[in-house]
Amino acid sequence: MCGIIGYVGNRQAQPLLLDSLSKLEYRGYDSCGLAVGGNSIKVFKNAGRVEELRAASPLLQGTVAIGHTRWATHGSPSSINAHPHVDCNGRIAVVHNGVITNYQTLRQRLIIEGHNFVSETDTEVIPHLIEKHYKGNIEKAVEAALGEIEGSYAIAVLAAKDAKLVVARKGCPLIIGVSDRENFVASDVPALLEYTNSVIYLENGDIGVITADSIKITRDGIEVDRKEEKIFWSIEDVQKGGYEHFMLKEIHEQPRAIRDTIEECLSSNSSPVLGRNIENLSMVACGTSYHAALIGKYVIEELLAIPVAVEIASEFNHRRRQPIPTSTAIVLTQSGETADVLVAMKRLLEVARTIVVITNVPGSTATRIAKQTVYIKAGPEVSVAATKTFTAQLIALYQLILSCPSLNRRICKRLVAELRTMPSAVQQVLNNESEIMDCARILSQYDNAFFIGRGISFPIALEGALKLKEISYIHAEGCAAGELKHGPLALAHKDVPIIAITPQDSTYEAMVTNIKEVKARDAPVIALVDETDGIMEQLADFVIRVPHVTSIFSAVVNAVAVQLLAYYAAKYRGCPIDFPRNLAKSVTVE
Ligand code: AGP
Repeated sequence: MCGIIGYVGNRQAQPLLLDSLSKLEYRGYDSCGLAVGGNSIKVFKNAGRVEELRAASPLLQGTVAIGHTRWATHGSPSSINAHPHVDCNGRIAVVHNGVITNYQTLRQRLIIEGHNFVSETDTEVIPHLIEKHYKGNIEKAVEAALGEIEGSYAIAVLAAKDAKLVVARKGCPLIIGVSDRENFVASDVPALLEYTNSVIYLENGDIGVITADSIKITRDGIEVDRKEEKIFWSIEDVQKGGYEHFMLKEIHEQPRAIRDTIEECLSSNSSPVLGRNIENLSMVACGTSYHAALIGKYVIEELLAIPVAVEIASEFNHRRRQPIPTSTAIVLTQSGETADVLVAMKRLLEVARTIVVITNVPGSTATRIAKQTVYIKAGPEVSVAATKTFTAQLIALYQLILSCPSLNRRICKRLVAELRTMPSAVQQVLNNESEIMDCARILSQYDNAFFIGRGISFPIALEGALKLKEISYIHAEGCAAGELKHGPLALAHKDVPIIAITPQDSTYEAMVTNIKEVKARDAPVIALVDETDGIMEQLADFVIRVPHVTSIFSAVVNAVAVQLLAYYAAKYRGCPIDFPRNLAKSVTVE
């Protein structure tokens, strides 16, 4: 999953592209490059971040250009493997996001036909294929080349002496930014917001030819019309706003994100997702969104007694057994572009009467596959580690459950009232940041850790462990506390801190026992406790207090606490918090 950018207009392209590429780095940041057109194509690329590229690159004059920031799939991060890649004569340059699955076969054949390859990448076959098919018309050559390619792609192509870009997508997102006497192309909206908020979403199979004054989109050679849409995010939304890291900014945006998501769900007049006659439910997601789905399962089964099957999308896709027919499938994906999830949605189309997607990104591919879309209003999330989109997903799930007509009205009324207090409850956790920082300083000294919880706190234990792993590189495991004695307890040790999530609910007594079990093995314990808790201080080494809320909502306040714990532990370890190694924000390859 890489970031692609392109520009054609009247301004010098290089500075524009460097600015936009820096806003796409959450999609991949191990190497990057530019190609600027004109009579000849000038390419400059290097391993490392966009700021290093900006510092090292010579002035590349020209008003048409393409750029790329990479998350390596084929070939190590290096200036040779970085994009753009060119043909034998350097007259065609290509940037690509996706995976060419038949590149080995194409490469062998092209080498026999006399093409020289310099990189280890799958992408390099594209400019050579275009060169092979080029007979004076670049878009025709691109179309012919794509006819031979298998796999997924979003590409932008630049040819010498040609003041236009040819772009295409299949499986990976690509957006055209429409402006006055100049146009852009990008993998994602944040790269465009500084220049325009008018966009066209390319569909799978579309090929676009873009000049400074025109945009022509074809599909199978026939011109098609694609709607121009407005984006309601601002450039401020994708800037740090004075915070040291996007992650900390986004953690602090949660009261607003929750409030806006509540308003969005209340104002949407779509029919309730969970009608009266729901027999069973399937939920599919990846990573943090999967943890939100698990919490949805606990709450739906507790309040509505509807059986819920929760699946990790990549496992769901590899299941040989046919998926179970389900009345409704709920898919959670903040980006709406996660390849594993999109493949799962296509599989669900065969067995689910209705597919509902809960997502944060308008116009994303998942919204085009789903029958119904529930938007969360977290605003763009730049930091690779998901935070505000997680709590906003929980809020959307609660709303969805509380709008189920079969729920007891009195219970529903009470829970809806409490849901509206979540923004201030989360603000209380944020106000308690210093206590969490102290615990994080302790935690940052260890290389291994366990998060434990029961019931609705088990998925929060999984989420806490994921956050800590992602950004601090501490090896952390989320464990159902009841499972400790079935094996993991063997690792309880003075050098392995335990973060215990212990809300005042039906799991409390059992959690006290678990904490005594690990304390008996000298493990340091950090307990996340209810502000009313009077016991845990004697038992645990450190406590983090969160506001008292009804059990089903404890997931929200505890989520924010584990996010801050992970953030500060990573900060004290000096980790690159927003751009952790080997990861990317939107995983657009399987
Ligand atoms: C979470 O911090 C990670 N970035 C990752 O696990 C993420 O949740 C996963 O890739 C799913 O992304 P999605 O919600 O955009 O589909």
